[in-house]
Amino acid sequence: MKYELIIVEPTVRKGVALIRLNRPKELNALNLQLMDELVFVFRQLDANDDVRCIVITGDDKAFAAGADIKEMSGRGAIEMHKVDQFSKWDSIRRTKKPVIAAVSGFALGGGCELTMLCDMIVASETAQFGQPEIKIGVIPGAGGTQRLTRAVGKARAMEMVLTGKFITAKEALAAGLVTRVVPPENYLEEALRLAQEVASMPPLAVQMAKEAILKAFDTSLDEGLLFERKNFYMLFATNDQKEGMKAFVEKRKADWSGT
Ligand code: CAA
Repeated sequence: MKYELIIVEPTVRKGVALIRLNRPKELNALNLQLMDELVFVFRQLDANDDVRCIVITGDDKAFAAGADIKEMSGRGAIEMHKVDQFSKWDSIRRTKKPVIAAVSGFALGGGCELTMLCDMIVASETAQFGQPEIKIGVIPGAGGTQRLTRAVGKARAMEMVLTGKFITAKEALAAGLVTRVVPPENYLEEALRLAQEVASMPPLAVQMAKEAILKAFDTSLDEGLLFERKNFYMLFATNDQKEGMKAFVEKRKADWSGT
């Protein structure tokens, strides 16, 4: 696929891929074409053994200002149902490799929802997160009512979704939505640095850990613990478990093979 609305660097750093949303004039509004490109590239990068962690970013003014309102505005309910644009986002959620959002400026509506599909968010001090759909007569449609509530709790999610109020990066950090907040000039570098750190870990263990943490959001504690334990035991089938434990005993740095 030839990308027009995103820019992809599959090996921006060792083991790290970078995806940039690239519709700057429209504040990276997520139209159907951009989302198709994103879904495709996530599948490609997930299947690429050289990629161990993925960073997604926008530009300094906006990560993304939401789904494309101009594209959606004339549609009827049946057409929305047929196009079912938000179901495509599920395939991004199923990415096995960890995904880090590097956010500067606006992360609104679908833009905020896209950051919440990621596993960690590194935010610039300029970042603003919000679900302003109520102001255009609708509600979040790509997970905002569910993921925001899980991330920041009912009280704050209600206020954000019912009033459309944005929260700052600092507030997002205090609420547990973002991993860290850094000065504006550092947000991408910090996200890449974090990605490199994750990419230097044994990849199968990283994927199993991600899978187990995400399980905590849609299962009971008992089932989640069982799932975690199975993943833990399964990692004893990997060469990296043997290497990691041997290296610890031999007091040397482990050399991960990713097998
Ligand atoms: N869709 C389409 N175009 C958008 C857009 C969006 N979500 N957000 C911004 N743009 C466009 C603007 O129309 C404008 O285009 P023109 O130059 O052709 O007029 C351009 O991007 C720049 O935007 P502004 O001039 O508005 O920039 P600003 O700095 O004055 O304001 C803003 C920035 C506060 C983010 C404002 O653009 C805004 O409120 N955007 C809409 C935010 C929003 O409502 N998002 C939710 C969308 S619905 C959704 O996402 C559903 C879902 O759950 C998935």
